[in-house]
Amino acid sequence: MNTFIHKAKTEHYAIPQINVNGLIWIECILKVAEKTRSPIILGTTDKIIDFLGGYDFICKTIRNKIESMNITVPVIIHLDHGLTVEGCKKAVDAGYDSVMFDGSKLPIEENIELTKQVVEYAHKNNVIVEGEVGAIGGNEDGVIGNVQYAKLEDCINLAQKAHIDTLAPALGSVHGKYKGEPNLGFKEMKEIQETIDIPLVLHGASGISDEDLVKAIKLGHAKINFNTEINIAWSNELREVLTNDKSLFNPQQILNPSKKAIERTVESIIYKCQSNGKV
Ligand code: 13P
Repeated sequence: MNTFIHKAKTEHYAIPQINVNGLIWIECILKVAEKTRSPIILGTTDKIIDFLGGYDFICKTIRNKIESMNITVPVIIHLDHGLTVEGCKKAVDAGYDSVMFDGSKLPIEENIELTKQVVEYAHKNNVIVEGEVGAIGGNEDGVIGNVQYAKLEDCINLAQKAHIDTLAPALGSVHGKYKGEPNLGFKEMKEIQETIDIPLVLHGASGISDEDLVKAIKLGHAKINFNTEINIAWSNELREVLTNDKSLFNPQQILNPSKKAIERTVESIIYKCQSNGKV
């Protein structure tokens, strides 16, 4: 995964991370990545790991799908917002390619120490690690928080002391729907990318303008995370189908249009990240 991320950083595009919320997400994301020849990251957020069936089940299911769908583009299975060191280790054991340890709510020294423990275990198993500094605001799977911009000094310390592979510095983005306009800290982004030579990760990309995404990519973001945008498209379509025909009960008839909505949204995200045709 490191090779793909570094290639994206050097060539100024980003690999999209699309969050998985169930089996249909896996199929739709893989289908579109293959069609557009884009490397892709399938993210499973730790908060809903039981809902998804657990680390082992979801990782094996994704791998089975990659094989049965004859997917030839690089697919990275990533643990999003790992909540504990133990959880990250379980994901590594289950066969994930990449894990994020989110110690952003902890005092920085504790964040560094726990991230370091994850890195030591992950690197021994050829798994890469994403760390986070500052606070990404908004509502993610029921957890609500305020934006807190990442401090440059904390970014340097986490990168150098914990030896992470990618860094998610919170710079004004939020998970879920934005209240008002997103206000990304491009000045801080520039400072971080000029000081630390590490691929950056942008969380909370749903609702950020195409123009701002391009700027973020130019300033070192090589991985961009999307969840809400896809879920809005999926749920809008599902609602419409059920409202338009109240007699429907066949799951395929109900779900197929919403699968198309996921596919359309993932395709537009791949183009926004400019990762199409990069394989
Ligand atoms: P959105 O839900 O805002 O797209 O953010 C997704 C994300 O950052 C997952 O880590």
